[in-house]
Amino acid sequence: MHLTLRQLKVFAAVARHLNYTRAAEEMHLTQPAVSMQIKQLENNVGLPLFEQIGKQIYLTEAGREMYHYSRVIAQQLEEADTVIDSLKGVQRGRLAIAVASTANYFAPRLLATFSGSHTAVTISLDVTNREGLLKQLESNEKDLVIMGRPPAQMDLAAEPFLDNPLVIIASPGHALVGRQNIPLADLQHETFVVREHGSGTRIAMERFFSEQGVRLETGMEMSSNEAIKQAVQAGLGLGIVSMHTLGLELETKRLVVLNVQSFPIMRHWYIVHWRGKRLSPVAQAFKEFVLNEGAGLISVPGQG
Ligand code: PGA
Repeated sequence: MHLTLRQLKVFAAVARHLNYTRAAEEMHLTQPAVSMQIKQLENNVGLPLFEQIGKQIYLTEAGREMYHYSRVIAQQLEEADTVIDSLKGVQRGRLAIAVASTANYFAPRLLATFSGSHTAVTISLDVTNREGLLKQLESNEKDLVIMGRPPAQMDLAAEPFLDNPLVIIASPGHALVGRQNIPLADLQHETFVVREHGSGTRIAMERFFSEQGVRLETGMEMSSNEAIKQAVQAGLGLGIVSMHTLGLELETKRLVVLNVQSFPIMRHWYIVHWRGKRLSPVAQAFKEFVLNEGAGLISVPGQG
C-alpha cells in the first residue's frame, strides 16, 4: 500500500470530524485539496474509506480500520518526537498546552513564569472549551491539558492543582444584590445567560441544579465568559461563571457575586495527559511546576 503521511493526517482529520469543511479548516487547506487527498488515498488503498448518505458522511469498514491505524501511527510518530526531544534535555524543545476557555484567565501567567526559567523552550497555547479539549486528548495532539475533571472512562492521568469556584453574578442594580443566603428556589424566577453546550462550566451548572431539583430558566447562550459578563452587566439576566474570570469586574464593582445557598459550586483544575503517554522532559518539568507552584502563583479573586 503506497500512501503518504500527509494523506493519513488529512484522512484522520476528516474521520474525526466526519465533515470535509471542518477537516479543511483544521488542516489549513481548501476543501477541494482535502477531497483530492482522500481520493488519492482511496485509490492507493483500493477501497472507499467514506460513504455519503444524504448530507452526512460515514466511515466504511475499511475507513474504520484505516482510522484505527492512522491513530496508532500518529501516536508512534509523536513518541519518536518525544524521545528525540528528550535527548536534547529539558532546556530545549517544544511544549504544546491546551487549556479550557475558563483556565485561560490564569494559564498565561503559569506559562510566563515557566518560560522565564526555560527560555529555549517554544511554547504553544491553545484555548478551547471542555468538549474541544476532549477531542484534542482523543487525537493526542497536545503534551498536556488543563481542564476540569476529565471523564473517568478515559484512561487519563489527571491531577488537581487549584480550586475553581463557580458563582452566580448579577449587575449591581439587580434586585437580589445584597440579600443573604438566597434560596435556590428563588432563582427559578430569574433568567440565566449561559455558556454553550460543550463547556465544562455549563455541564457543572446543569448537573448541580438537576441534583438540587431546581429548574433554571436559561436565556441566551454565549460561547465565552467575556460575553456572559457583558450580557449580565447589560442587564440580560444572571450568569454563572468561574471566580477566575471576575478579577477586574469585582475590583471595579461592575458585577456582584450573589450570596446564594450551596454556592459556590466547587470545581477543580486538573493537569491531564494519557496515562501511557511518554512525557518529554519539558512536559514533565511543566507538569511538576504546575503541581508544585501553580496554586501559589494564582490567586482566585475573592479568596485573598
Ligand atoms: P469551560 O471549562 O471553559 O469549557 O467551561 C471549564 C471547566 O471545565 O470548569
